[in-house]
Amino acid sequence: TGHTALDYGYVNTASTKSAITYIDGEAGILRYRGYPIEQLAAGSTFLEVAYLLIYGELPTADELAAFDAEIRRHTLLHEDMRYYFEGVPHTAHPMAVLSGGLQMLSTYYESSLDTAVPEFVEVNTIRLLAKLPVLAAYAHKKSIGQAFLYPKNELGFVENFLRLNFGNKAEHYDMNPVLVEALDKLLILHADHEQNASTSTVRLVGSTGANMFSSISAGINALSGPLHGGANEAVLDMLAQIRDSGQSVQTFVEKVKRKEDGVKLMGFGHRVYKNYDPRARIVRESADRVLAELGVNDPLLALAQELEQIALEDDYFKERKLYPNVDFYTGVIYKAMGFPTRMFTVLFAIGRLPGWIAQWREAREDAQTKIGRPQQLYIGATERKLER
Ligand code: CMC
Repeated sequence: TGHTALDYGYVNTASTKSAITYIDGEAGILRYRGYPIEQLAAGSTFLEVAYLLIYGELPTADELAAFDAEIRRHTLLHEDMRYYFEGVPHTAHPMAVLSGGLQMLSTYYESSLDTAVPEFVEVNTIRLLAKLPVLAAYAHKKSIGQAFLYPKNELGFVENFLRLNFGNKAEHYDMNPVLVEALDKLLILHADHEQNASTSTVRLVGSTGANMFSSISAGINALSGPLHGGANEAVLDMLAQIRDSGQSVQTFVEKVKRKEDGVKLMGFGHRVYKNYDPRARIVRESADRVLAELGVNDPLLALAQELEQIALEDDYFKERKLYPNVDFYTGVIYKAMGFPTRMFTVLFAIGRLPGWIAQWREAREDAQTKIGRPQQLYIGATERKLER
């Protein structure tokens, strides 16, 4: 067409303006609504950050109390959702169960899905924040063959989620504050990351006028891939593979450098960060602390540290500016908390939810938003005639 520039992977094309998240990949800076990620991770809670991302400002004490209370009131899933979970095989990947479950859930709210009605957008924001963690915990319970628990609304967001995952009907669940704090922090680190693949998916689907449930369900599917959120699961698989193979870490790194069988160092590299991912720095510190506090001695953590050390000193990784990303150390922590590997990306999705909501809402409010419709450069056959 003459005007169309080819840009595989949208490396050079901005799809939107946004006032939510700022990243400087060269300097390793990440800010939500202007606040550096390090400060939010150290001094705020996930619910405060969710509020900040969605509404633009940190909540006052009263606003936070009201927001928290609203979310707690909406945690129950429609009782018929149990048939959805009954129909799912226990071997199903929890990410598929999560996106399918969210889409299914939207069918219970068809009278309040109209995206033109602001009150519906507000109530669906709360429904999503309240119910996605419950869906996630049930995906986990289903996979291990345990009965689902009902949420307990006297518990906070993270407490409720942990109990739904690790509590059972026979025993009292002992809440571990170390776990609560660590998971809350990890959720903050994942809460938004501007126009990454899943968020762009949410915006693209939303640009058609599709509701928040459908848009975010699509975002969850985008997140599931190993180059995106699925990397946290892939890192643990990679570490276990290195351990089981008996090869040295150096041998594995050489294989990655030869690009043998397309093997990549999972949890390394980033489209935007050409410096240490600021989230990875925080996760790395927290991995050491959490494992020590939980009394877990996981040889995979030592393996990860050795792998990082070798890669950071290697020219292949230096030349390409490949550093650990957020996914490199999270899996070790999730594992220490007791989550099975296939739940790791589900945890990422819960963390990213406020970002998806905020970005979907920002697009909805932006008068310049149009249906997303990329161009192509056609390289197929010229006109030919059907000879019959
Ligand atoms: N291991 C080995 N080589 C790599 C890696 C890696 N992890 N990442 C990039 N490279 C190489 C790549 O082969 C290319 O080399 P060459 O110039 O010789 O062809 C060069 O580095 C540039 O990479 P690219 O593929 O052009 O970079 P990209 O911006 O398209 O990809 C990425 C970014 C994150 C998809 C990629 O680095 C990757 O696949 N990493 C592993 C998966 C991963 O950890 N993903 C999580 C991302 S962080 C947050 C999230 O979960 O979304």
